[in-house]
Amino acid sequence: MENKTLGIIGGTGWLGRAIAEALLDRGFLRPEQLLISNRSGVSTFGAGVRLLADNQQLVDLSDIVVLSVRPEQFRELRINARGKRVISLMAGIPAAAISAATGADGVVRAMPNAAVEIGQSFTPWYSAVNLDERDRDWVQRLFECVGASDELPDEDGIDYLSALSGTGPAFPAMLQMALTNQAVAAGIPLAIAQRAAQGVVVGGGQMLANRDPRQMIESLMAYRGVTAAALQSMADQDIESIVGRAIQAGAEVARRGL
Ligand SMILES: NC(=O)c1ccc[n+]([C@@H]2O[C@H](COP(=O)([O-])OP(=O)(O)OC[C@H]3O[C@@H](n4cnc5c(N)ncnc54)[C@H](OP(=O)(O)O)[C@@H]3O)[C@@H](O)[C@H]2O)c1
Repeated sequence: MENKTLGIIGGTGWLGRAIAEALLDRGFLRPEQLLISNRSGVSTFGAGVRLLADNQQLVDLSDIVVLSVRPEQFRELRINARGKRVISLMAGIPAAAISAATGADGVVRAMPNAAVEIGQSFTPWYSAVNLDERDRDWVQRLFECVGASDELPDEDGIDYLSALSGTGPAFPAMLQMALTNQAVAAGIPLAIAQRAAQGVVVGGGQMLANRDPRQMIESLMAYRGVTAAALQSMADQDIESIVGRAIQAGAEVARRGL
């Protein structure tokens, strides 16, 4: 897929634009290798990147087509991608449905998250067709332009991880809100509660970038103090099964289809 032309349908959206910008910034693609389509005709890309109003024209001019529209918008696309590789970023649309609707020869499903914006997405991907070593490496390097990436051996993993890593900042945001609300309920002024909760989620998250969370918990539990009491309370309430049920609820939606 080296030196190929990449077309992104929906390349001006949240995910599509961040990925496209990263591919250019990292030198993965030259501007003339990138095509974008949308309905509004509005784009922030500089000279060289072609913006098209006609999705079929984008498909015809591209070697590889990325689908970065919302799942419900996919049904309105009427494209014939016979002979092309398609990479779908859409949640809840199986590779077989994408092949059937577009005629694409090979479909790759990938599930980035909102952290593409800061180059820190984790992006699992799955190919419904056998890729040779060069093509596999190309897909992997493409998603490494926006963070870390791994190939998955089965498609169900994409649906499961849609509800885990695909949610990006959702779980930390919910934790931060809960910490803030509980502090306010305990009488801490709102602005201080917000700063304290942000310190836990953002500062704590950064510390975990290079540390093992199990070791971190074990060493904090070993103090047998304030932190240990709080963590023990969460463990007694089976925090893992709460998390597990939340992810399964999301994964069921992805598996059922959007
Ligand atoms: N955002 C996330 O955190 C996230 C995480 C994981 C997966 N995803 C998946 O990524 C996909 C894109 O999500 P997003 O958040 O980037 O959505 P978004 O910001 O709404 O972007 C959608 C893009 O598609 C374009 N579009 C819509 N209909 C079109 C059509 N018929 N032809 C051409 N372009 C069209 C829109 O531009 P116009 O309005 O100008 O047409 C826009 O550029 C979704 O399928 C979602 O499941 C998103």
